Amino acid sequence: MLEVAGIERMQQTKSVRDIDIKDKRVLIRVDFNVPMDHEFNISDDTRIREALPTINYCIDREAKSIILVSHLGRPKGKDSDFSLKHVLKRVERLLGKTVVFADDIDSAKSIQATLKSGHIILLENIRFNAGEEKNDPLLAQELAQLCDVYVNDAFGTSHRAHASTHGIAQFVSQKVAGFLLKKEIDSFAKAFTNPLKPVLLIVGGSKVSSKLALLNNILDLVDKIIIGGAMSNTFLQAQGYDMQKSLVEENLINEAHHILEKAKQKGVKVYLPVDVVSTNDLKTHQEIKITPAQDVPQDFMAVDIGPASTKLFNQVIRDSQTIVWNGPLGVYEISQFSRGTFNVAHSISDTYAFSLIGGGDTADAVERAGERDNMSFISTGGGASLELLEGKVLPAFEVLDQRE
Ligand code: 3PG
Repeated sequence: MLEVAGIERMQQTKSVRDIDIKDKRVLIRVDFNVPMDHEFNISDDTRIREALPTINYCIDREAKSIILVSHLGRPKGKDSDFSLKHVLKRVERLLGKTVVFADDIDSAKSIQATLKSGHIILLENIRFNAGEEKNDPLLAQELAQLCDVYVNDAFGTSHRAHASTHGIAQFVSQKVAGFLLKKEIDSFAKAFTNPLKPVLLIVGGSKVSSKLALLNNILDLVDKIIIGGAMSNTFLQAQGYDMQKSLVEENLINEAHHILEKAKQKGVKVYLPVDVVSTNDLKTHQEIKITPAQDVPQDFMAVDIGPASTKLFNQVIRDSQTIVWNGPLGVYEISQFSRGTFNVAHSISDTYAFSLIGGGDTADAVERAGERDNMSFISTGGGASLELLEGKVLPAFEVLDQRE
């Protein structure tokens, strides 16, 4: 069960502000895993921007050296397509400083030994080392030798127990959170520990299976749940509707029943789409129809919520004081099927509620809807925010120093 205690404990993590870093060698684990096109143009540099306050703070506090460690993508061994050289220029531009690139840990060591105080190093993709994802203590120790202070500011990767996010901490005497890690956990705390009520969870995306743990765990902390996206098809099918060609996880229909029953027992109101937009072909979308949820035409698949659902959900959103949103409500990447998701983004932005957006797709949808600046907080973590909502204490937090 998602327990407030876990979030509160993570909030007690010491931050970079709690220690003295003057003249110290600081290693900052950042998450520069940013989306790029096939020519390596960065399409969204939010994660780099969000790491700047911690990096700048260490510069201002006269750290002896700063080494930035990140992964990029999921390479299988060394692969230049996944080199962090592709982000170097952007990091330099945003920081307004020269950053020295180190191809591996050994070259980082020699750069540290030769350069004068105050330099910044960006280490090559840490996942080029086989030991990273295995949380290999040898790699963790090698990384630890590069620093006196370890700062984790990679919220997006905080659900991974890897050498640079977890193992390293046991070999460094001072290990603290950066400002982004703090900001993220404080935002989740605001939504779940003593939140303004009613609390609404909006959950979407394609699969019930990927949100099962979340749904089961969150029922004690929310007052209302809106379920949309393809995952709502499984719930609608569980109500006895024939969802035709829509994506339905047949094996989870019982589970969907169970969740609805559990919600009822706990007094949590669940809202499902009352009408849907459907098409006979997702690629060509030759025919598009709006029908009540129980009347999806034969051979059609539901791809968005309909206008009546939008109205209903708008009402629910308007009555909420805290809104947590994870997962789009339709195939929002296709403009014809984006309306439901975008309208929900607009509805949230019209409220004075505290709104917390989690998950890469949801953040992207909010951006495309032009509402990015109108949300209270957009998490930089997809998997990490999901695991947090599932009630897990994230491994990266576990190993950091705690406040007394
Ligand atoms: C993310 O983009 O979710 C993080 O950078 C973590 O990446 P991963 O899922 O490859 O570990």
